[in-house]
Amino acid sequence: MTQTDLGRPRPEFVHNGIAFGCDYNPEQWSPEVWAEDVRLMREAGVDLVAINIFGWSNVQPSPDRYNFDDLDAVITLLHDNGIRVNLGTGTSSAPPWLSTQHPEILPMVSDGTTRYPGGRQAWCPSSPVFRDYALRLVEKVAERYGNHPAVALWHVSNELGCHNGRCYCPTTAAAFRSWLEKKYGSIDSLNRAWGTSFWSQRYSTWSEIDTPKLTLSSGNPGQALDFQRFSSDELLSYYRSERDVIRRHSSVPVTTNFMVAAHIDNLDYWSWAPEMDVIANDHYLDHRLPDPAAELNFAADLTRGLANGEPWLLMEQATGAVNWQPHNIAKVPGEMVRNVMTHVARGADAVCSFQWRASLQGSEKFHSALVPHAGTDSAHWRSVVELGALLDRLDEVQGSRVVADVAVIFSWESTWASDGANMPSQSVKSLDQAHAAYNAARDAGLSVQMVSPDSDLSGYGLILVPGLYLVTDAQAARLADAVAAGAHAVVTYFSGIVDHDDRVRPGGYPGAFTELLGVRSEEFFPLMPGDQMQLEWVGTASTGIANSPATLWSENLHPTTAEVMATYVDGQLPGVPAVTLNSFGNGHAWYVATELGADTLRDLITRIASEAGVKRPSDALRFGSDGVEISRRVSAEHSYLFVINHSKEDVTVASIGYELVTETSVDNTLRVPAGAVRVVREDSRA
Ligand code: GLA
Repeated sequence: MTQTDLGRPRPEFVHNGIAFGCDYNPEQWSPEVWAEDVRLMREAGVDLVAINIFGWSNVQPSPDRYNFDDLDAVITLLHDNGIRVNLGTGTSSAPPWLSTQHPEILPMVSDGTTRYPGGRQAWCPSSPVFRDYALRLVEKVAERYGNHPAVALWHVSNELGCHNGRCYCPTTAAAFRSWLEKKYGSIDSLNRAWGTSFWSQRYSTWSEIDTPKLTLSSGNPGQALDFQRFSSDELLSYYRSERDVIRRHSSVPVTTNFMVAAHIDNLDYWSWAPEMDVIANDHYLDHRLPDPAAELNFAADLTRGLANGEPWLLMEQATGAVNWQPHNIAKVPGEMVRNVMTHVARGADAVCSFQWRASLQGSEKFHSALVPHAGTDSAHWRSVVELGALLDRLDEVQGSRVVADVAVIFSWESTWASDGANMPSQSVKSLDQAHAAYNAARDAGLSVQMVSPDSDLSGYGLILVPGLYLVTDAQAARLADAVAAGAHAVVTYFSGIVDHDDRVRPGGYPGAFTELLGVRSEEFFPLMPGDQMQLEWVGTASTGIANSPATLWSENLHPTTAEVMATYVDGQLPGVPAVTLNSFGNGHAWYVATELGADTLRDLITRIASEAGVKRPSDALRFGSDGVEISRRVSAEHSYLFVINHSKEDVTVASIGYELVTETSVDNTLRVPAGAVRVVREDSRA
């Protein structure tokens, strides 16, 4: 057990090997099917199943009637077959009787209209009525199963904030006002923080403040930012209330499934993570993105960042297509294994999928599952069985940690602030910048640790700071201290611009980082979509760097103490610096004042990493989504080299040891066929 921040022992999730599991919704099936399910789970090696995720209307069919018969039977069946239970509290979606009796629990969207039941998660996170009913259910479930030997993990609700991340109803408005009163103490201090002198928005009493509903013009950015902070805190407080009920009845670890993914940014998971006994994430390939596999890498590393480098659980993924994108792309042979292994290579100690058996009815009937509609006489089922066997061979990897000495700073709070309305360019998105910097490091073959701007940055040779628009003085000082102590930092444009209150730092951009970077810029010169600028790299800076054109952004930048590494050849600012380098204490701080091409940024990061003495897990390969992915997990006894070959060609990697996937020894050269995955327990001679 480790200590929580509150000094209480934190229960640890203990499992024998890499867990292989799924969401299981037996309420959709008859008991005859359950028996077959469990037989097949054993065949596939499934050893952890999440149940009762959407169980509320089954276990509490009416306000004063609970019926645990089915849940008892399923838990017993699973337990008798050696399958551990990840037990849902069941509160994710309220039953129809609750929203009928208490329509005040329904969430309101920003135009002031109510969203009705009939889907899922139709509840206001601030509703005391919803909380009261939900916690009563949690109490019953925790009382009944808190000490059941099958229960390995508690699964609070489901993807909190997925649909109801922001509610604008009167109950929420009252909760928002309390949150604001606590934060600011006086209305004057709120007025200062929100800059309400502008557009006659000054408040004279708390009661005048509402949730930031749709306005004719753009609204107040300070109000919007605080509302995002509040909404994240509100759902976290909801999580805590369920967890605290469970704690009274059970010493089993408690968690909830995060949604670290490109399309969902409702919650500041840096503040949530310390409250979890183990970090769990749901991840689905997003085919709306240009490079879904790159986003998978980013999400897996960000999840490990949330776990503070410790192993974490992949709580949901899809064995094939999802059903909620405009075009739901199935996985080609080998792709599921590569996806899953990317998570494992980046610290996952569990691989679970949504869901066990493909539904025949309901909204998700065309979502893939471990058991497809076609049944077990299918390539899909055979690939699931193979995955189970593969994970068994990797059991010894469990508990090992990924080693990374490149940090990428990521902040949800800064993302919320910078992606608001009325910015210099609607094409500049801080999440895109974070992905670009992350991809450059990944494609340079580096191992990345995602960190919050409040993290301890000592120990990282290279720190990437992509588009960190909002930064506090303390956060800026941490970065400066790390560089002064010898780190190399790369800060990209539109960073350091505002303080905690979204107030511009006057005196020149990039505000908080002008001294660290040794530059000052007087005006932004964003570009129209599609416009490009040629760059000229100066002196040695030009060596080995692909010179593709820059886009999206430029600024009228003057070096104060920095050296110029590249200038614009054309565009509105010919001759003006685009990339600079400043010596700062014992370290070096680069400023990238424009959107570099992906290959240029990759080459630049490769060069800086090498100057910073950062080692790659392996050299001399083409990395990336159509190349090779390499990472290393290390335990007290062993180190494990993961090689995922996304390319269409066989590759070879220098390695000595024992390869766990094919169960063969490797003497100097590991051959990884096109599309295959290998994991070498490295010989210490390597
Ligand atoms: C989320 C939910 C699941 C299911 C999947 C489908 O992750 O938690 O209940 O809806 O999406 O991809």
